[in-house]
Amino acid sequence: MTDRFGRNISYLRISVTELCNLRCRYCMPEEGVCKKRHEEMLREDEMIQAVEVAASLGITKLRITGGEPLVKKNIVSICRRAAAVEGIQEVCLTTNGILLPELAAPLKEAGVKRLNISLDTLDAEKYAYITRMGSLSQAAEGIRAAMDAGFEKVKLNTVLIGGFNEDEIVPLAELTLRYPIDLRFIEMMPMVEGGFGPEAFIPNTRVLEVLPELEEQPADGGVAKLYRLPGALGRVGLISPVNAHFCAACNRIRLTADGKLKPCLHSAAEYSIKGLNREEMRSVMEQAIYNKPAWHGELNAQNPSHAGRNMNQIGG
Ligand code: GTP
Ligand code: 5AD
Ligand code: SF4
Repeated sequence: MTDRFGRNISYLRISVTELCNLRCRYCMPEEGVCKKRHEEMLREDEMIQAVEVAASLGITKLRITGGEPLVKKNIVSICRRAAAVEGIQEVCLTTNGILLPELAAPLKEAGVKRLNISLDTLDAEKYAYITRMGSLSQAAEGIRAAMDAGFEKVKLNTVLIGGFNEDEIVPLAELTLRYPIDLRFIEMMPMVEGGFGPEAFIPNTRVLEVLPELEEQPADGGVAKLYRLPGALGRVGLISPVNAHFCAACNRIRLTADGKLKPCLHSAAEYSIKGLNREEMRSVMEQAIYNKPAWHGELNAQNPSHAGRNMNQIGG
């Protein structure tokens, strides 16, 4: 269905859990999250009902997010059931990759079409620092497992952070010379209280300064502006929500693990669907879509996100 600004909303991002096996500094606090009561969170059946209702309103694409979706015990079942819903053409998933060695093959078999995997650095010590507890070799094994399981068009997500990984723009982009993957640099969105300060923000224009040989590629309908290094197997993407927001073309709504529809990532507006029957859910979803904000407003250190949640509670 279309919102009041005429945007066709066809893409639902579902965060299936707020929990994560890492603690990335731009995403969540060190102590993790206070585990909410079981009764507050959506059950698998409620998630599937939400997908069915969303599909009846014209949603064709789902992206499963978190927290870390693979720490959810019933993740394979959720994906399998979601992929079978009539009208859903594509179920994709965004993960930190740590659990992919066990789960890549079952997810593929369950009908997941594509995986996006976070990778902020190629240095093991820096990986342990940014994730506060992660192992680069495990993440690398996860990426390998995704490719071995037959996933195509794997995308890697790199959040650009001043003083941390700006010196790795070239080696990260050069992964696309060797592998048929897209590597996307993402401008860091100001979310976590006590996270990085304004000095750590790097605009994506820096990537173009460092890699002037990048050749522009045709758009594919996603949020990244696409480029290619000469002769590369994969593409380099620039996702620039801060300096070049893409709200006018936004086709997305979000559903949080505690059952709140968020028509915009950075707006405080939330519509609860927890405990609703199908008809009630449909009516609330229609309202949420229709009232999607025009854009998320200025986003910078002085104007942080109005989301009222950290990224692990929204799913990016
Ligand atoms: P596909 O296009 O389906 O591959 O997904 P994606 O690239 O949008 O998904 P992914 O989960 O990999 O997110 C990549 C980055 O884009 C993350 O930093 C997200 O927070 C960001 N992002 C995704 N959708 C939006 C959006 O609607 N608004 C903003 N501001 N950022 C978004
Ligand atoms: N700004 C930009 N991207 C973020 N992500 C998490 N937090 C932020 C942030 N503050 C990214 C993760 C993951 C994706 C779902 O969102 O790196 O790849
Ligand atoms: Fe976990 Fe993803 Fe947040 Fe990192 S970005 S802490 S992997 S939810």
